Amino acid sequence: MGRIADALKRAEQERLSAAALAAREGGTAVLPPPAVEPSAEAPLPAIPDVPLPLPPAADAPTLVQGLSESLVPYYERASLITEQYRSLRTRLLSQNPHYEHRMLAITSAVPKEGKSVTSLNLGCVLAEIRHLKVLVVDGDFRRGSLARMLNQPEAPGLAELLRGEATYSQVLRATPIPNLTFIPAGNVTHRSAADLLASAATKPIFQRMQNEYHYTIVDTPPATTVTDVGIIGQLCSGVVVIVRLHRTDELAAKRTVRLLQVNNIPIVGCLLVGRDTPGGRYGYGYSYNYYRYYDSYYRRPETP
Ligand SMILES: Nc1ncnc2c1ncn2[C@@H]1O[C@H](COP(=O)(O)OP(=O)(O)OP(=O)(O)O)[C@@H](O)[C@H]1O
Ligand SMILES: [Mg+2]
Repeated sequence: MGRIADALKRAEQERLSAAALAAREGGTAVLPPPAVEPSAEAPLPAIPDVPLPLPPAADAPTLVQGLSESLVPYYERASLITEQYRSLRTRLLSQNPHYEHRMLAITSAVPKEGKSVTSLNLGCVLAEIRHLKVLVVDGDFRRGSLARMLNQPEAPGLAELLRGEATYSQVLRATPIPNLTFIPAGNVTHRSAADLLASAATKPIFQRMQNEYHYTIVDTPPATTVTDVGIIGQLCSGVVVIVRLHRTDELAAKRTVRLLQVNNIPIVGCLLVGRDTPGGRYGYGYSYNYYRYYDSYYRRPETP
């Protein structure tokens, strides 16, 4: 028993060292799944990944009023940050060579680790693939933020749909990104969030989403603070866990993995968020990229 634990610990240390190394090269790194996941022995099949060609610089992207600047794959299609989201996309697509419909939850151990930004940006890069229909769902009833990032009203959304106060078609919202639809969280009181997710309406609604979209990405609250992830994760094909460099507490990360394991929810990937610069403070590297991004955003000619 002790030897197995030691081996797992060693494998995990090696995995995290590789991720830290990758993070020094850029802002976000895609980690292989943790040691608890079965490792693929056979080579992965070819990835049928056909992104749309980059639009000509002159007419792209269209500046959309109120659209969050965190939507880097929309504004900066050729940037390093966008490429890193595409790496996560490639990993997910390689796990799904036959394009089965997949519903993936995005979670992390604690608040403010980048779940919502990742959900939207992952949806964005998946939607770059012509034949994929992609849906992003805000499943964080307590701190829903996708509607704000897309400058859309918060309701009606998932909460109203689950309560039967809105129809499915009423909560689906178009986005400026072709192929990408989203559902906001809607309005719900803190106390009833878990009850709402545990209601009989939830399963058929999530099933419908999965039937109608190739990829459904569900943003969730932090796994260690509320039980929602356990409920949403059960309805999904798997979970992507966000780990934020220098912020995610090791014990909290381990608790998250255990929580997902005991609920039999597969972890299909981990994403290391944040950039480590030699001698620099956490976040500095990312801020640098961000400022560069802001700069080019504001230098764009104003739309009429
Ligand atoms: N890859 C990244 N690198 C650095 N900062 C990021 C990254 N992704 C998101 N952020 C920033 O981190 C902050 C939190 O992001 P976000 O809202 O996505 O986190 P969250 O985990 O969804 O938070 P909450 O738990 O409150 O829902 C935001 O200011 C966002 O701009
Ligand atoms: Mg969030």
